[in-house]
Parts: sequence; C-alpha cells; structure tokens
Amino acid sequence: MRLLAIETTCDETGVAVLEGPSPEEPWRVPRIRSSVVASQLDLHQRYGGVVPEIAARAHVRQILPVLRQALRESGVGLEEIGAVAVATRPGLVGALVVGLTVAKTLAWSLEVPLVEVDHLEGHLFACQLAFPERVAYPCVGLVVSGGHTSLYRCDGPIDATPLGGTIDDAAGEAFDKVASLLGLGYPGGPRIEALARSGNPRRFALPRSFLKEEERLEFSFSGLKTAVLYTLQGQPGPPSHPPEPSSPPPPEPGFLADLAASFQEAVVEVLVTKAAQATRRTGLRRLAVGGGVAANQRFREALEQMATREGIDLLIAPPALCTDNAAMAGVAFAKLQRGLVAPLDIDVTPGLVR
Ligand code: KG4
Ligand code: ZN
Repeated sequence: MRLLAIETTCDETGVAVLEGPSPEEPWRVPRIRSSVVASQLDLHQRYGGVVPEIAARAHVRQILPVLRQALRESGVGLEEIGAVAVATRPGLVGALVVGLTVAKTLAWSLEVPLVEVDHLEGHLFACQLAFPERVAYPCVGLVVSGGHTSLYRCDGPIDATPLGGTIDDAAGEAFDKVASLLGLGYPGGPRIEALARSGNPRRFALPRSFLKEEERLEFSFSGLKTAVLYTLQGQPGPPSHPPEPSSPPPPEPGFLADLAASFQEAVVEVLVTKAAQATRRTGLRRLAVGGGVAANQRFREALEQMATREGIDLLIAPPALCTDNAAMAGVAFAKLQRGLVAPLDIDVTPGLVR
C-alpha cells in the first residue's frame, strides 16, 4: 500500500510517498519512495525567527508544487495512493491547517483513509525509517527540536509515554536565541555549529541545569542563554541597564567562536547525560534521537561516545531525516494497522497535548 504523507507543522513544506508493508509481512518497515522538503528559511531570515502568518502563506504557495514533485520522484500515480497521512499536532495553527486541508481534500476525492499523526512520534519514527533492518522499539526516545526537548518511553511507534521535558526553552530554541545574541542570525543551530568548530568549548564555564540530578528527567536552557548574554557583556551578573539589542559583540578574535563552542558543549552535555539517565531509569538499552538539533555533528559524536561507554544501542537518523520532513509521517502505518482512521471533520491541535 502506498501512503502519501504531508508535513506543514512549522516552516518546512514536506510531502513524501512511502511504500508500506504487505498484509503478509506487517512487521516490515515502510520504504521511502520520495521525500521532498521546501524550506522557508529565506523568508524568515530577515525577522530572526519563524513568523507564523508568513509560514502559513508559504505553505499555501508551496504545497502543490511539492506534492507534484514528490509524486513524480516516487514514480507513483495519485490513483495508486491508498491512504493520506498528515501531521496535525503540535505546531503553528495556520501552518497545520494548510497541510490538513490538502490531506482532507485528497483523502475525500481519492476515497482513501485519512490518518492524523503526531509530529513528535514522527521525529522518533524517522530513526526506524533510517534503519529498516534494525529493531527500534522499545526504546527511550529523545526529541530535540525547535519547539520540544522531551524524553519518552516508546513501546512502539505510537505508544510513547512522556518521561520528562524542558521546563522553559527547547534546546533548538536556545540555539536560535543564542545565535541571535551572537549576531549570527537565523537559523541558529547550523550557524552556531559552524562557528563552534573553530572555538574552544572549555573557555567559558556555562551552567548545566539538573545535570547531577539523576532522578530528574527535565531540562532547562533559559539560565544558559542568560549566562551567554552576561558573558557577551563581559559581566558576571545581571546588567544594570537593559542590553542594547544592536550593541556590537566584543571584537577580540576567537571570543565568539569560543562562546559558541562553550554554549554548544553545555547543551550537548545536558542532552546526552539526561538521555543516559533515562535509559538507566527505564532499564531500556536502546535510544532513538530525533528532531532538528539531532543534525548537530558534535551532539551526534557525544551520543555515540556515551552509547559505546554505556552499552546502549543508539539509533539516530541522517541529518535530512532529523529536521522536519514528511517521510516521518510514515508512522501512520502503525495507526492503520490498528484501524485508527481519522474522520474528515478533524481539526488541528497546535499545542502539546501531553
Ligand atoms: O525538528 P525541526 O526541524 O523543527 C521543529 O520541529 O522545531 O528543528 C528545528 C530546530 C531549530 O531550532 C534549529 O536551530 C535546530 O533545530 N537545528 C540545529 C541544527 N540544525 C537544526 N541545532 C543545532 N545544530 C544543528 N546543526
Ligand atoms: Zn520538528
């Protein structure tokens, strides 16, 4: 069975075509026939972040060309599509509505089932898609994206139980905000990673929240962000005046690279340590990591070192499957196997529901 999958939760317009397992072999992992992503980065760059209304309108313009390209690259005709999947949560309301409306229209006109999927379950399922020959579940799932930093116990693709998450900023959000403080612009993650390559990660001692609290599977990145701001301003504590948003960073060569590297190292150490603590807490020896921040090479290296040291089976998808894409909505096959088809009057759920 061929599935058409749609992703419009934030600022990437994605459409994918997946080949599902046959009824005789329901355990097989779906195969990606095509996955097309149109980024909106250039539209949001000048605002320093994603502007929801601009994102929604860009999806309106891009969705049909992306759909056509995904079908063309897959070699599958629209009439061969057996189900339509769409991420309906969590995300930006206007952006989600575009994907859902296209998905409903296709499901209705093709007379095939509509399946709604959770974007976060999709991020973790990307690990299974990337390694079809490996067993991905049960596992500890760590989603690290622009909107979420959460740990789950995953007993299957659609059986995730939350273990804990961030109490303030998401890790990707911290990357984006710190990049803006350093004058690097948007998107922050890849720019900080690039600058950090030439920096000294041990130059600045930045805070690592809850690191030693083995039982506390929570994250906090807002203090780290503030510590970066104070370091930038050359002071140990809060400034007496509000910072000038446009004040130039100190010019000393290497300062910004060292600060970027020290910040990245602090985020990476916290994420990797909490993931290891979650495997100990659950007794699970498998870890799946998804979301845009998982594209970060330093994070991937540190995860691999930890996994080798602790004897954990690590699944982390290639970067293109970590950032937003529609192939990960292939998690819909697990829903179809349970008969979880959505009625055509469903709505989107922008907020995190659990
Ligand atoms: O999963 P994603 O594409 O979208 C959301 O669901 O949020 O994640 C986007 C986030 C952004 O905050 C971006 O800065 C971050 O992932 N990101 C990275 C890297 N690439 C993307 N963070 C650190 N290093 C990267 N290489
Ligand atoms: Zn995402």
